[in-house]
Amino acid sequence: MQSPQIYTHADYEALSHAAAERFLLIARQAARMYDRFLVVLSGGGTPEGLFRLLASTPYRDALPWNQTHVFWADERCVPPDDPGSNYGQAVRLLLSRVRVPKANLHRAPGERPPAQAAAEYAAALREFTLPGEMAPRFDLVLLGLGEDGHTASLFPGQMSAEEETATVEVASADYQGRPAQRVTLTPLAINAAREVDFLVSGADKAGAVAATLAGPRDPLRWPAQRIAPGEGQVVWMLDAMAAGRLPAPLRKR
Ligand code: 6PG
Repeated sequence: MQSPQIYTHADYEALSHAAAERFLLIARQAARMYDRFLVVLSGGGTPEGLFRLLASTPYRDALPWNQTHVFWADERCVPPDDPGSNYGQAVRLLLSRVRVPKANLHRAPGERPPAQAAAEYAAALREFTLPGEMAPRFDLVLLGLGEDGHTASLFPGQMSAEEETATVEVASADYQGRPAQRVTLTPLAINAAREVDFLVSGADKAGAVAATLAGPRDPLRWPAQRIAPGEGQVVWMLDAMAAGRLPAPLRKR
């Protein structure tokens, strides 16, 4: 894999705009080259600005929604209409406001017991996996980063043997009062992507950003270090506060 590209933007608004531009570029390229755009969304507060932009002009009308298939990096084990559902959040802010076919939304069924939700989501992913491959070749995976260094629902100190072969696994972790039971894509699935974009905003993330990108390699402690697509690229989109503890040469604009 190529080394990660790191971009620092002035603030959250600039970061969200840059993410929307990149989303559009990749979506159009994928639609042109493969006749479909496979995108993976994350939950949390950070992508809200991006979702709102994509639901507004000019993005709403410029995106190839018919060819877009939407997946989730992780899901909290709650029903889709629960305020804690990642799917529900994306529907409220974005997907109910654009002309994406319902059949193109591939959610993990958070209302089911975690193991069953993981199995059903893995089966949905298999429908998009080419013969001989382990996971779909997502065109774009959007990820966030927790203050503790987690990404998707890959939490510090948690690594399972199943991850060697599974695309989806269950996870359990308490973080900021959010639902603890979750299902998540594994690094194996995320690393099949053509591009992974981390969106990170705020000073409370600066320590995790610096440790992940510039600290010693310790993927058990800093799970985002496990994201390294074999044939794809990783882009870190930071705002100035999140980049605040990176060594100066990495803090380029
Ligand atoms: C989730 C996410 C998770 C998120 C981080 C960052 O389900 O919560 O997918 O991995 O990206 O927790 O969350 P914030 O953007 O709210 O800081």
